[in-house]
Amino acid sequence: MRYLLLCLAGAAAAAEPSYVRDIQPVLQKQCQGCHQPASKSSDLDLTTFTGFAAGGKHGPAFVAGLPDESVVVRYVTGQAKPQMPLGQPALPVDQVDLIRAWIRAGAKDDSPLESKVAPGETVYHQPPVITALRFSPDGKYLAVSGNGEILLHKADGTGLVRRLPGDAERVLSLAFSKDGSLLAAAGGTPARFGEVQLWDAREGKLLRAAKLTSDTVFGGSLSPDGAKVAVGCTDNTVHVFDTTTAKELYKIGNHENWVLATVFGVDGKRLVSAGRDRSAKLIDAANGQFLENVNLLRGEIDALARHPQKDIIVTGGEDRVPYIYTMDRSKNMKIADDSTLLRKLDRQNGPILALDWSPDGKLIAVASSAPEVNLYDAETGAKVASCTGHAAGIYTVAFSPDSARLATGGFDGRVRIYEAATCKQEVAFVPVPLAQEVGKLGGAQ
Ligand code: HEC
Repeated sequence: MRYLLLCLAGAAAAAEPSYVRDIQPVLQKQCQGCHQPASKSSDLDLTTFTGFAAGGKHGPAFVAGLPDESVVVRYVTGQAKPQMPLGQPALPVDQVDLIRAWIRAGAKDDSPLESKVAPGETVYHQPPVITALRFSPDGKYLAVSGNGEILLHKADGTGLVRRLPGDAERVLSLAFSKDGSLLAAAGGTPARFGEVQLWDAREGKLLRAAKLTSDTVFGGSLSPDGAKVAVGCTDNTVHVFDTTTAKELYKIGNHENWVLATVFGVDGKRLVSAGRDRSAKLIDAANGQFLENVNLLRGEIDALARHPQKDIIVTGGEDRVPYIYTMDRSKNMKIADDSTLLRKLDRQNGPILALDWSPDGKLIAVASSAPEVNLYDAETGAKVASCTGHAAGIYTVAFSPDSARLATGGFDGRVRIYEAATCKQEVAFVPVPLAQEVGKLGGAQ
């Protein structure tokens, strides 16, 4: 009797179409090569039920109960062109019938909870330490570092738009090209490899990546024309890559310790690199030739930012004081001379970890291991405001393209967006989806 019941139950289950048993294997084998997070053809991700349901450019991929009105059926039958799977023989009739039957029966998701995350997709049980964030030049998006990925948010903090997973466990710097088409990320996996990733920022596609050295790389920056990307390394070098090929153009070896920050000059012809050896070095960006030291050595340098229209930089680091230097030194400058120094800003309450110069040239944001970001008038050096509310040190700051807002991120895992002129906080959010703990209802935030 018991045996019979089991058989009946089995037969009933077999008759009911199942996403896990009937649909997923087909998608996995025939479709995911082109429809996955890193290469979403037609904006369609078929690696998760959620992605399948959300669909692509033509909207949801299926309408529960109505196979003939479902986009996916239209594409696999060839009613919609090009027929899927693209460039391959059409799906066998019985597979198409299974897809139809599953949709007709209500298109239910019977996948177990744990597999609702795409393979390789990071699951967060707590907010990640934020090490990099940048606004896109059109002001629409805010790219934020996550664990093993970049999270593209709406710039006003109202939602996550896209996740960009890469090989590197850590993303330590982000830079958009001026036209917004390219997003360069630099980081790596500690004690294993450094990585430079080049993304098509609009499509969310990884275009190219290059691995280098055996440790994470720091302080990535793009040349103003977007053609080159520079990164600092723990082997005391700066590597410069061609962004159209991800091939290395040259390597600079003048530093005596880790290089933590880089920035190009306004016309892209020169580059400044700085780091633990306390020097900010001026380099010919065409060939990597060392030109001269910009600064008088003080503490280790962790951060650099440049004036938007002038070859003037601000440095910050161990000794807590932001120094503003011109990249052009006077002809008769001597060794240990400090005539390139234009101005010092206030000493901060902790070592300086990040800097940004507003796109209108007026403000400099200084972030440190103290839980505040101080804003200064770049012309006079006067303190304008102090953005507070952080629970711990701040690793990254970025002005919006219109200079009206400032985004911050750091150890406490929250992105905060402030009105730049007043430091009034507009929004704060955790940039990743947090896994809900079993047995707990409601948002984990
Ligand atoms: C070789 C790459 C490739 C494979 C394999 C592939 N697709 Fe596609 N798919 C594409 C491309 C490219 C497009 C965009 C086509 C266009 O509109 O020109 C697309 C579009 C689609 C669309 C339209 C989405 C929308 O809303 O715009 C659907 C649905 C789709 N594919 C389903 C599938 C399914 C189901 C499979 C597997 C049976 C599959 N694809 C296999 C490349 C592929």
